[in-house]
Amino acid sequence: MTGLGLEHPLIIQGGMGVGVSNWVLAKAVALTGQLGVVSGTSIDTVLVRRLQDGDLGGHIRRAMNHFPMPEVVDDVLKKYFRPDGLAEGEPYTAIPMYRQVVSRVREQLTMLASFVEVWLAKEGHDGKVGVNLLTKVQMPNLATLYGAMLARVDYVLMGAGIPKEIPGALDRFAAHEAASIKFDVEGAGRDDHDVLSFDPRAHFPEQPTGIKRPFFFPIIASNSLATMLVRKSSGRVDGFIIEAPTAGGHNAPPRVSGVINERGEPQYGERDLVDLEKMKEHGLPFYLAGSAGTPEKLAEALDAGATGIQVGTLFAYADESGVLPELKADVLRQAQDDSIDVLTDGRASPTGFPFKVVQLEGTVSSLPVYQQRERVCDLGYLRQAYKRADGRIDYRCAAEPVETYVKKGGLREDTEGRKCLCNALFATIGHAQARDEGYREAPLITSGDELKNIRRFIGSDRAGYSAGEVIEWLMSGLDLLCPSTRQKAGIPAAVQAASR
Ligand SMILES: Cc1cc2nc3c(=O)[nH]c(=O)nc-3n(C[C@H](O)[C@H](O)[C@H](O)COP(=O)(O)O)c2cc1C
Repeated sequence: MTGLGLEHPLIIQGGMGVGVSNWVLAKAVALTGQLGVVSGTSIDTVLVRRLQDGDLGGHIRRAMNHFPMPEVVDDVLKKYFRPDGLAEGEPYTAIPMYRQVVSRVREQLTMLASFVEVWLAKEGHDGKVGVNLLTKVQMPNLATLYGAMLARVDYVLMGAGIPKEIPGALDRFAAHEAASIKFDVEGAGRDDHDVLSFDPRAHFPEQPTGIKRPFFFPIIASNSLATMLVRKSSGRVDGFIIEAPTAGGHNAPPRVSGVINERGEPQYGERDLVDLEKMKEHGLPFYLAGSAGTPEKLAEALDAGATGIQVGTLFAYADESGVLPELKADVLRQAQDDSIDVLTDGRASPTGFPFKVVQLEGTVSSLPVYQQRERVCDLGYLRQAYKRADGRIDYRCAAEPVETYVKKGGLREDTEGRKCLCNALFATIGHAQARDEGYREAPLITSGDELKNIRRFIGSDRAGYSAGEVIEWLMSGLDLLCPSTRQKAGIPAAVQAASR
């Protein structure tokens, strides 16, 4: 069942990087008729690490066979596929870090990776699949989007920044034209016009078949951003995800900055609430996210005029998600005996955005684990571009070695408490990098505040659950709709019964 009389779904399984909302999870959700979303963040490294782990089940290679550039596939397999996986303690071969301009081959690897993820999520059914990207992780985004379009992605969902140039880029790609977006370079002068570009024609002289323009849903946390995107985007915005600061992952910074509680968490107030009546004035579908994953909240959202809800945390611990099973089990056990804690960490993410961190021993959330790690920046997705004194562009990350960061003109105080999310999040999904002397990168788990209430859904003794069960539980909220919403949507009694 899709949305109430609309072409859009009722429930969106939120995009969760890195590799948490993988193709397996997104496919499971899409099969129920709701929207499954794969994460496109750092997807190129996800691909090469899966290949180096031996591609169990052969799924990645099956999808690669459908990529319309067989020579790229051969090349990538030759470089990265390890049929027997890596030896104990052997590090993964890395790919070159992204920069403003990368080689054709590097661009093709990125396209291939997002193609594979979307293709697998869409394989064998007609359900809808979206791709999620962080606006801030700017450099690989255009190639990632084009790769997803090659696999006929249905929706693009982007937050963590202001994605106003993306809708136009999608239009241009659908017309087989090049697109450029402004490149955010710290310290750039007024007359600098640095851009990031991607040209499909550099890879395909003729437009590949089946390319279509996906729906574009930006993820926003304020009315003013929604209005700005409607007015100033380079192309059509098709709907919104309104994300509250209780949501998992990165959160928008509070409108009033500098207010923190005794745990150092940024505090949100009245001004951070989004006025839904004003949202309705745009005449576009909107979804509520952030502690919206209960049957009651689904009904409330629909009664308030939303098209549906976007849910992350509940899906992050579903059997199909990419999180290591032992980490899922640890977190669920602690949530069941009420000892789980989620911190809104204002320092952890090098992006400077607040980031929700589950406090769990053995992960980077624990001080000894954090301190034990020697800083190294070798994935580089969160690097910020900056202008050097000689006018050239270079890159730095507040989680890289402190002296390197300072030498690049970064402020020492910016490095305090910063965590290498890139390496930690790969460890969370079972692709931890091995370092010297037997050290392995430790994981980090993000979740929404709602994790504390997950017991309501799973009870006190259940060890796991499927994405389908999440959907079924949430859909039971349709029985709670107020009569006028039900009437407007024309839900017959029979449909209500079927959704139970
Ligand atoms: C593990 C995890 C990773 C997430 N990663 C992303 C991400 O990469 N991009 C994004 O836009 N949102 C991300 N989110 C937010 C979700 O897409 C979703 O909006 C949010 O979780 C909804 O709130 P809830 O957690 O209360 O259900 C993440 C959430 C979780 C739990």
